[in-house]
This record gives sequence, structure tokens and C-alpha cells, in this order.
Amino acid sequence: MRSIFFATTFLSLGASHVWSQSLNNTGIRWVDCATNIPAPLKDTNLTFPLPSALHCGRLDVPMDYSKPMSASNNITLGFTMFRPPNSRGLINLQVILTLGGPGQEVASYSWEIALNLSRASWFAGLEGYDMLAIDTRGWDSSNALNCSLGNWTLSPSFPSTESELKAFQAAVGVYAQSCIDSSTPAGIVQHLSSDETVQDWDRVRAALGYDIMHHFGISYGTYYGALYAHMFPEHVGRFALDAVFTTGSNVDLISAQYAALDRSLVRSDAYCVNDPACPLHSQGKGSVLQAFNTAIDLASSNSSTTNATADDVRFFVAMRYLVGNPDFATLNQALYDATQGNWSLLDYPPFAATYTLSIVPIAQTYCLDYRGYIDDNTFEGYQNILKVGAESDPIGIKYLFFMVLHTLCTGWPYTAASNPKMPINASMVLITSDFDYNTPTELADLEWSQAPNSVLVVRHGDDHGSYDVPGPARSAFIDFLATGNLPAATNQTFATIYEPGSKRAPIPDPYSVPTGPEAGDM
Ligand SMILES: *[C@@H]1O[C@H](CO)[C@@H](O)[C@H](O)[C@H]1NC(C)=O
Ligand SMILES: *[C@@H]1O[C@H](CO)[C@@H](O)[C@H](O)[C@H]1NC(C)=O
Ligand SMILES: *[C@@H]1O[C@H](CO)[C@@H](O)[C@H](O)[C@H]1NC(C)=O
Ligand SMILES: *[C@@H]1O[C@H](CO)[C@@H](O)[C@H](O)[C@H]1NC(C)=O
Ligand SMILES: *[C@@H]1O[C@H](CO)[C@@H](O)[C@H](O)[C@H]1NC(C)=O
Ligand SMILES: *[C@@H]1O[C@H](CO)[C@@H](O)[C@H](O)[C@H]1NC(C)=O
Ligand SMILES: *[C@@H]1O[C@H](CO)[C@@H](O)[C@H](O)[C@H]1NC(C)=O
Ligand SMILES: *[C@@H]1O[C@H](CO)[C@@H](O)[C@H](O)[C@H]1NC(C)=O
Ligand SMILES: *[C@@H]1O[C@H](CO)[C@@H](O)[C@H](O)[C@H]1NC(C)=O
Ligand SMILES: *[C@@H]1O[C@H](CO)[C@@H](O)[C@H](O)[C@H]1NC(C)=O
Ligand SMILES: *[C@@H]1O[C@H](CO)[C@@H](O)[C@H](O)[C@H]1NC(C)=O
Repeated sequence: MRSIFFATTFLSLGASHVWSQSLNNTGIRWVDCATNIPAPLKDTNLTFPLPSALHCGRLDVPMDYSKPMSASNNITLGFTMFRPPNSRGLINLQVILTLGGPGQEVASYSWEIALNLSRASWFAGLEGYDMLAIDTRGWDSSNALNCSLGNWTLSPSFPSTESELKAFQAAVGVYAQSCIDSSTPAGIVQHLSSDETVQDWDRVRAALGYDIMHHFGISYGTYYGALYAHMFPEHVGRFALDAVFTTGSNVDLISAQYAALDRSLVRSDAYCVNDPACPLHSQGKGSVLQAFNTAIDLASSNSSTTNATADDVRFFVAMRYLVGNPDFATLNQALYDATQGNWSLLDYPPFAATYTLSIVPIAQTYCLDYRGYIDDNTFEGYQNILKVGAESDPIGIKYLFFMVLHTLCTGWPYTAASNPKMPINASMVLITSDFDYNTPTELADLEWSQAPNSVLVVRHGDDHGSYDVPGPARSAFIDFLATGNLPAATNQTFATIYEPGSKRAPIPDPYSVPTGPEAGDM
């Protein structure tokens, strides 16, 4: 839901053909990048001819891997590559941003690298490698679904009665049916699980003629990476997973994220203590938490002049200001303003449509990966998970990213039977940050327990992911991909590195870790 602005387009037509015929391909169709520009770059001021290191390909794979490929059982994967001369190997990129959900557009990242656009810096240090960016199935150039939200927008409140839950599930069903009816090939909506995505990756790897693939995985890209490492151990090179997501029980995931959300709000308070521009700064430690409670009380009271509800306040904390790279400064301002009677930074209606559009499509893969694990898909089960979750949310923020996904999944029509345990022998590098709310740091512990030969890098600070936070954690990640050297144990202000078999220290007190750019704060 973070809006991203692109420069105006001045595309030159009749651009040159840059694909290469000399590359070995088994079934790959190389296409002209100039006529296959990824959606996020369509409005960018690109320079033609495109760099010769940029390649765009297509590969047909089975839609349903349990059956042979046929005219009614295939999809086309779209991918791009940055291929430098004398490549040192293949790195698969899976950078999942915005709300951090699975799927989404990926192909533009090779372009960012080849054209040195703004995000190329994330990959600095890896220039000698072939960089592969495959759009995940169901997105963009890989058989994008065609779905319609109609006039449905999400409310910032969870269903509180059985009939509200049923009505919500019916709306999910209508949306899912629109995908089923209008997407091609018929049946694709059932085949968008991560299990299938990693099989796609393996087909592309093999078609490119590589035995070994390295992996640069962020957020849900870590889950795909772990699944690949579990399913294709013989092809696993260096797997670097940053902002680790892994599956566990519904209760584990949701409880961990409630705890992370509360920690993140406490970090906002710590930020205010260190930020002279924070309007609550002079009130000292605890003032942000107090302002949150005051805003909730004001919004709940019938004598208040505001039309914002307590749930609107909770929504903004959970889904606007703390998600992704948290915006503590604006959150602190918003809460302060509300206590002064100005609710403009907590106004939900203008957000509803963008928010709905950014989160509902995550269901298409997330629910296939997750719904099979919904322990109890009754209203009682739904209430129970909120009740158990509340135990990890003493501040009472209540609204929660994973709980939104959980609610969507209670109504998604398809489930997939997957095994949530994924033992991995490979030595990977797992990166987490103490105060990441999207992928709570507890999930990195869970992954580490399943991948015991891996090194765990704990960055002390904020944000979802360390790929864009210069410092020891990012360096460990890039050096491992570039050289294969596992990072050595260290204990520094902004990162602690744990070798296999060591024991992680408890999550630090949010006030004890410094705030500021080195901690990831803008
Ligand atoms: C696009 O590129 C052209 C030529 O380099 C330049 O003149 C123009 O200002 C650029 N436009 C934008 C919006 O950046
Ligand atoms: C292409 O494939 C052939 C035969 O499989 C192999 O000998 C050759 O090394 C490959 N070339 C490249 C660039 O991978
Ligand atoms: C894939 O499906 C299309 C039609 O949907 C068909 O034209 C094409 O031949 C199929 N490809 C393969 C390899 O079966
Ligand atoms: C890429 O762009 C950055 C600034 O955006 C610049 O510092 C760097 O030198 C550029 N790299 C190349 C290879 O042009
Ligand atoms: C949304 O659309 C449906 C039919 O498409 C209609 O019945 C309903 O009244 C609409 N709701 C609103 C709030 O516009
Ligand atoms: C998407 O589905 C709608 C409704 O069925 C249809 O009108 C539209 O042409 C489809 N778009 C694409 C790109 O297939
Ligand atoms: C506010 O008013 C609504 C209905 O008008 C009522 O249900 C609710 O209990 C009132 N809340 C408070 C805190 O007085
Ligand atoms: C409250 O009312 C104002 C003015 O009508 C409107 O702009 C705003 O969106 C409303 N906010 C909520 C939460 O309904
Ligand atoms: C309310 O807060 C917003 C955002 O901080 C600010 O731009 C606006 O001027 C404030 N309105 C009033 C009436 O103070
Ligand atoms: C597991 O990993 C270790 C070290 O990383 C390696 O020595 C061993 O051969 C691996 N075992 C299997 C079964 O792959
Ligand atoms: C790292 O250092 C801090 C303080 O200097 C200490 O509290 C913590 O226990 C150390 N962690 C490890 C794993 O040694």
C-alpha cells in the first residue's frame, strides 16, 4: 500500500532487439525486452537500446505438476535475467515488498540491475552473477490472474458475529469466483501454491543449464527459498534468506505477529524518546503508548467530535504506519494529533480501496499455503484464535496483518495439503531483525530449528528486511552470496551473528537498541 511513483515515460519506439540466441535453451523462448517491459517500469524514463546484459524469457511448464504438460495443462512463466560476461553462477531473486505477501511482480528487478535504477543498490556486490527474476505464477508475465473486487472494500474491523463472518466469507467467495471465471487457463486458481512455484523455479534453472542455483530471498521469498531447499537439496547453492517467513500453526504465526506488533509500537515510543521533533518528546518514555490509549478512548466515546472509530486507529497502527519499513515519525504525529482533536492522519475511508486492492490478492497463494492448517474453521475457532492472539497483544492493538490474511483464508475456496515441517540440511544464511513486524523474528527461530546448519544473523533495529539497511547484517548477506563464506560469529551494536548450534539471546528491550539510520529508521 505504499505508493510508488515513477517518472514520466518517454519511450522510444522501434527499440532494438537485445535477446540472445547463443544461450543454451531447452524450451526457453527469448523475447524482446523492449516490447515486454514489466508493469512497474512502464512509466519510467528508460533509455534505449537496452543494455545487452538484459534478457527476457518465457518457459512453458505444467499448470498442475501431478499431470503431464498438455494443451490444457500448461502455463507460461515470464522471467528476466541480468547476464554479465563470464558469469560466476546463477542467483535467483525473489524480493517481495509492499505488504510482503507471496506472489507479485519480480521481473523488473533484473531491469533495475541492468539499468542501474534506484533499487540496483540492493544488489550491489553481486554484479558478477547471472541474476534471475521470475514472475511468480499468477502474476504479471506468468499468467496473471484476472480478478474483480467489484465494489468490495475491506472494513478496518474483524467480523464480530457469526453472520458477519459468513458475510465476509461470502464476499471472499465472490472475489475468488471472479478469478476462477476470468483467468486462464481454466483451473489455474487451484495451482498457485508455493509448492508449485518452486517447481517452476527448478524448471527454469534446468532449462538455463545450471546444476546449482543461489537464492536472494526477501520476506515471502524466504519461504519459497526454504521450500526449494527442502524439495531440491541437490541443486541448492548459497541461500540467503532475509526477513524470514515460515509456516507454523495458525496460533504460532498469529501470536508471534501480535507480539511483534506490540514491540513495534514500543519502538515507536523509543523513537519518540530519541526524536526531539516528536510532538510527545517532552512527555518522555511511554507517551506514545499513552497517546494510543487516549486516541482509542476518544474514538470509542460517544461524546467525541470525531467520526473515526477505535478500529480506525488500530488499522492505522497495524496496516499503515508500522508495516514494512515503519514510519514512526508520522505515527507519533498521528497519535498526538488525535489527542488534540485532529484525526486527519487516521482517516480510513480514503485508504479503503487501495488497502483492499493491496491485500486481497495475497490470498491467492497465501491461502493455498496456509488454509490447510486452519485448525478449526468454525466461528468458535475464529473467535478462539483472536482470544489466544490477544494474550500476545497486551497493548491491545488488535488489528493484525496475519489475522487479516487468516480471515480471508477462512473463506478461500481452495486448500492445499502441504507438510508444514521443512527440514533443510543446507548451510544457509538467515537474517532477521528484532523489531520486524511483518515477519516476526520468532519465525526466524522456527526456521533455524528446521535448518540447523544455517547461520542466524540478527540485526538490532527496525524494518522488514535488511537488504536496504547498510551495515553488518546486509554485508553478511551479500558476502555470503558473492563468496560462499558463511559469516563468523560476532556481537555488535547493530547485529549479532550466531553460528550453527549456538543459542540466541532473548529479543532485546525495544528501548535498549539505538534508533536512527543504522537501526533502519528513516
Ligand atoms: C527523460 O529523459 C530525457 C532524456 O534523457 C530527459 O530530457 C527528460 O528530462 C527525462 N524525463 C524525466 C521525467 O525524467
Ligand atoms: C550448451 O549445451 C551443450 C550440450 O548440452 C553443452 O555442451 C554446452 O556447454 C552448453 N553451453 C552453455 C553455454 O551452457
Ligand atoms: C500450452 O497451452 C496452449 C493453449 O493454452 C497450447 O497452444 C500450447 O500448445 C500448450 N503448450 C504445450 C507445450 O503443451
Ligand atoms: C549506479 O547509480 C549510482 C547512483 O544512483 C552510482 O553511484 C553508480 O556509480 C552507478 N553505477 C554504475 C555502474 O553506473
Ligand atoms: C455493490 O455491487 C452489488 C452488485 O454488483 C450491489 O448489489 C451492491 O448494492 C453494491 N454495493 C454498494 C455499496 O455499492
Ligand atoms: C478480465 O475479465 C473481464 C471480465 O470477465 C473481461 O472483461 C476482461 O476482458 C478480462 N481481461 C483480460 C486481460 O483478460
Ligand atoms: C455509544 O452509542 C452506541 C449506540 O448509539 C451504544 O451502543 C454504545 O454503547 C455507546 N458507547 C458508549 C461508550 O457509551
Ligand atoms: C469523517 O468525516 C469526514 C468529513 O465528512 C470524512 O472526510 C472522513 O472520511 C470521515 N472519516 C471516517 C473515519 O468516517
Ligand atoms: C491536522 O493535522 C494535519 C497533519 O498533521 C495537518 O496538516 C493539519 O494542518 C492539521 N489541521 C489542523 C486544523 O490543525
Ligand atoms: C548435510 O550438510 C553437511 C554440511 O553442511 C554435509 O557435510 C552433509 O553431506 C549434508 N548431508 C546431506 C545428506 O546432504
Ligand atoms: C551481546 O552483547 C550484549 C551486550 O554487550 C549482551 O547483552 C548479549 O548477551 C551479547 N550476546 C551474545 C549472544 O553474546
